[in-house]
Amino acid sequence: MTAAPATLRRPLIAGNWKMNGLKADGLALARDIATRLEGMASRRFDMLVCPPFTLLDAVCAAVDGAPLLLGAQDCHADAKGAHTGDVAAPMLAELGCSHVIVGHSERRTNHGESDATVRAKAAAAQGAGMTAVICIGETEGQRDAGETAAVVRRQLAGSLPAGSSATNTVIAYEPVWAIGTGRTPTPEEAQAIHALIRAELSKPLGAAGSAATRILYGGSMNPKNAAVLLALPDVDGGLIGGASLKAADFLAIGECCR
Ligand code: PGA
Repeated sequence: MTAAPATLRRPLIAGNWKMNGLKADGLALARDIATRLEGMASRRFDMLVCPPFTLLDAVCAAVDGAPLLLGAQDCHADAKGAHTGDVAAPMLAELGCSHVIVGHSERRTNHGESDATVRAKAAAAQGAGMTAVICIGETEGQRDAGETAAVVRRQLAGSLPAGSSATNTVIAYEPVWAIGTGRTPTPEEAQAIHALIRAELSKPLGAAGSAATRILYGGSMNPKNAAVLLALPDVDGGLIGGASLKAADFLAIGECCR
């Protein structure tokens, strides 16, 4: 499939703070990012931060008016009910979230989340009017066994809700072995998997829907490797963990978008 014109997909630079940030540090980081963003004369990307649940309300207030999107790192599949400790998608929408990460490999591994669980959570996020950032990616063992394409196909098919579209869905390809390790796929490997994901997306979304859907790369993206990864025709931004906790590095990644 030929790559869609770049204008069709404005890059999304998304920060996944994971379980980091007490109030003072988290708010300072959010304000620093917002100030730097506002200081940019022009920019060719959208920027999203996904702090822990505890900071969402305060971060939203702290960056009010800035062109910075707010997202959560997870949600429950149900809109309300007896689910001690969980957070429902409408609660996140009410706080000002436009995006919710679902199916991150740390949740798939640490909380036993299946593709069906991820699909239900993504549907809940979409149903609450937000965009689901659906994470998929193979483990090192699966990569070594030559199963990357099969795993990515299976996770994508199993995790994408009916009713998904280019506006309510972002896919994040995050090879598990690249997360927090300093390792990344080669540009050729990354482009091949992203192209595969786009080809697979055309089944449920159609060619136009697939061509308009953003597919992010995640896993040890940093200011040094971002330019090469973000220049790949089917890489439409990044889901960034460690490097999103330093405003200068996070913005430097954004500036790699051409
Ligand atoms: P990393 O994390 O950038 O620290 O590798 C990415 C992620 O897990 O989303």
